[in-house]
Amino acid sequence: MTRYAHVTGWGSALPEHVMTNKDLEQMVDTSDEWIVSRTGIRERRIASPDQTTASLAADAASRALKTAGVHPTEVDLIIVATSSPEHIFPATACIVQDMLGATKAGAFDLSAACTGFIFALNMAAQAIRTGSIDTALVIGAETLSRIVNWQDRNTCILFGDGAGAFVLQGSNEPGGVLEAVMHADGSGADVLMLPAGGSKIPTSPDTVAHGLHYLYMEGRPVFRFATRVMAEAAREVVEKAGLSLEDIQWIIPHQANIRILEVAARHLKLPMERFVVNLDRYGNTSTASIPIATTEAAAQGKLHPGDKVVLVGFGGGLTYGAALVEWTGPFPGHPEVNPERYRLWARVRSAGLRLRRKVLAAAGREQRLGG
Ligand code: UT7
Repeated sequence: MTRYAHVTGWGSALPEHVMTNKDLEQMVDTSDEWIVSRTGIRERRIASPDQTTASLAADAASRALKTAGVHPTEVDLIIVATSSPEHIFPATACIVQDMLGATKAGAFDLSAACTGFIFALNMAAQAIRTGSIDTALVIGAETLSRIVNWQDRNTCILFGDGAGAFVLQGSNEPGGVLEAVMHADGSGADVLMLPAGGSKIPTSPDTVAHGLHYLYMEGRPVFRFATRVMAEAAREVVEKAGLSLEDIQWIIPHQANIRILEVAARHLKLPMERFVVNLDRYGNTSTASIPIATTEAAAQGKLHPGDKVVLVGFGGGLTYGAALVEWTGPFPGHPEVNPERYRLWARVRSAGLRLRRKVLAAAGREQRLGG
């Protein structure tokens, strides 16, 4: 029996604090006029000190689970796509798993910069289609404000914080994630990167003094790459599914720059009205941008069951890819769940497990001393 991976839940989490272009004018030599005309961005959200990539991811995931009517304990797999993980390891996905109380889920991070959500969606859909798992949470989450150099006008005007999540569920009914394409060009690795803090250039006073712990980007080559690959990937995924662009109701692109989207629309010969765009209000939230835009489109009633939607992204790596999704919505007859409230219980459970580990460690120490 053929299995299909349906998108049955979606949710997003955006910090309350709004940083406008006017605010940026006070920080770097820029202007609202320059930012709007070169990028289309008017404002972005910035995480508060108590918000992290995992907390935003868990908030978005709780909302997605509620939409789908899926209890956290039913989730088999959590993938967090991010370029601003809480740590190099452990995976942010494990921290999210603990926060949600998703007791049976495996969890890992996926690093493909702004294309991460597309790759993660494809991986989770594949796992469902093979019958390996039945329910997955795919999350894109970022706190880029923590790795951006707020004195670098080339980058700080672009990025914002936020998270978005999908619930994927298996079914024998056709639909869901129909096709995906994934590409990389590592020869462009150096044009968009976080230079220090990994094993090649470990953090040191010197790396900090030279600002190598900040996101680095050469905007123009990334721009040129993006204008070429956005249309290419969208076209490729549609053809791979045996469809044509006329069959597609919505393109939900990575929200990087309105000029990039306009070029992609021209190449695809599609009007901008077919593109979901919200970068004016949230800036570039990297891998979170596609699920955030999807959640907003769903809330605005733009997405209907049966609609064919192309999600398409590009980013550091360099990477690019696209997924073709037949929109489903929550499965009929799903139960009412409250994942947000369940997180209280998850916190108690987590504290209990930590305490148990401490007690066992102390007992082991005593035994060793005694022996
Ligand atoms: O998620 C993927 C991540 N990245 C992207 O998608 C970024 C792709 N690239 C871009 O979106 C664009 O390249 C940028 C928005 C980053 C820059 O736009 P641009 O039209 O490519 O500008 P530019 O870098 O060619 O710079 C043009 C001028 C330069 O001045 P000169 O050398 O012509 O005198 C810059 O110094 O604009 C100057 N400039 C600024 N001026 C005011 C650069 N940043 C700013 C700024 N405010 N914030």
